[in-house]
Amino acid sequence: MTAPVRTRTSADLIHAEEPVLAHNYHPLPVVVARAEGTWVEDVEGRRYLDMLAGYSALNFGHRHPALIEAAHRQLDRLTLTSRAFHNDRLAEFAERLAELTGLDMVLPMNTGAEAVESGIKVARKWAYEVKGVPADQATIVVAAENFHGRTTTIVSFSTDETARAGFGPFTPGFRIVPYNDLAALEAAVDETTAAVLLEPIQGEAGVVIPDEGYLAGVRELTRRKGCLFIADEIQSGLGRTGRTLAVEHEGVVPDVLLLGKALGGGIVPVSAVVARRDVLGVLRPGEHGSTFGGNPLAAAVGTAVVELLETGEFQRRAAELGGLLRDGLAELVGKGVVGFRSRGLWAGVDIDPAIGTGRAVSGRLMEEGVLVKDTHGSTIRLAPPLTITGEELRAALGSLEKVLVRRV
Ligand SMILES: Cc1ncc(COP(=O)(O)O)c(C=O)c1O
Repeated sequence: MTAPVRTRTSADLIHAEEPVLAHNYHPLPVVVARAEGTWVEDVEGRRYLDMLAGYSALNFGHRHPALIEAAHRQLDRLTLTSRAFHNDRLAEFAERLAELTGLDMVLPMNTGAEAVESGIKVARKWAYEVKGVPADQATIVVAAENFHGRTTTIVSFSTDETARAGFGPFTPGFRIVPYNDLAALEAAVDETTAAVLLEPIQGEAGVVIPDEGYLAGVRELTRRKGCLFIADEIQSGLGRTGRTLAVEHEGVVPDVLLLGKALGGGIVPVSAVVARRDVLGVLRPGEHGSTFGGNPLAAAVGTAVVELLETGEFQRRAAELGGLLRDGLAELVGKGVVGFRSRGLWAGVDIDPAIGTGRAVSGRLMEEGVLVKDTHGSTIRLAPPLTITGEELRAALGSLEKVLVRRV
């Protein structure tokens, strides 16, 4: 006799995770079972507007038809070769990504943290081989409150004690300066400096946007001092801010660009270091790699992502709807919102702590059918898919107002 099929409820599934899944996340109590566009549905069939978009990994929404089609087509043909052999999808991906970003060469990897690690290695090698820094003396200057990922080297230069405590000893060679402070940067950069590594907008810190002129200033300073400018656009890039890249708001072209998240279309992990030829050209066979980096499935999806961005449609949507988001949030200031920062379809919203923590507000919004996530303290981040409609965005803002007016 076959056992009856047991349908597990959201509560069952959350309970089942507890003993078998590492507790390195604290998710909201929603168990997503399917999704389409801007909407997700839980196990019980309740629908939610996704206002987080996988931390910007879902810039084109869930299951964008062009991306799903590209993935299906590739799944039916070839998925992995490793880089021991060439595959017939990688050249086009690299060509089109280089063209989109205005740079020359691509190093394909998988996750964001891997792209950051790879960027650090490339910058160090460049410092020794091109700049002439004495062996093992290279430094990289980073900003306080940064978020670049979770590997041992990356948490070595984090200022978030939760990310670091218990994980030492740390990798040396990093100098931390306050974000948005050109004088501090100037003082920290010296003849050992391989690179300045920054997020053009600090996402995890709460969508912190530097003063106008800062990124252009970093560009000028790094050029004058003879070190690289590495822009980590893993969260800010690929349409989110109303431009393909956030650095474009100041007309800046970095030496090295780190991309991830949305580059995989929400389907597969795809990341990349994109740089000038004289920088990425320092790598030779055997010095760096990844079994899955540049696999044909990733390259096919990545190429389809670049194709979507080539139209400019998503950047335009983010810019236009970004105005609506900004105006909507401005109306909530004084009504539970104490301040906010936004660019394109990306906002960090500081909630009056008297109303509740970011976590509590996120929980209440979930009950209203809107998914967001706190960054820290009383700040929540809004980063909907760029496919969101004006009506959906107004509905999400309406839910936020309702939650704030009723208080948590
Ligand atoms: C700016 C930035 N860099 C790097 C990362 C790390 O990416 P991943 O989680 O794919 O390793 C993130 C993730 O949030 C990020 O926001």
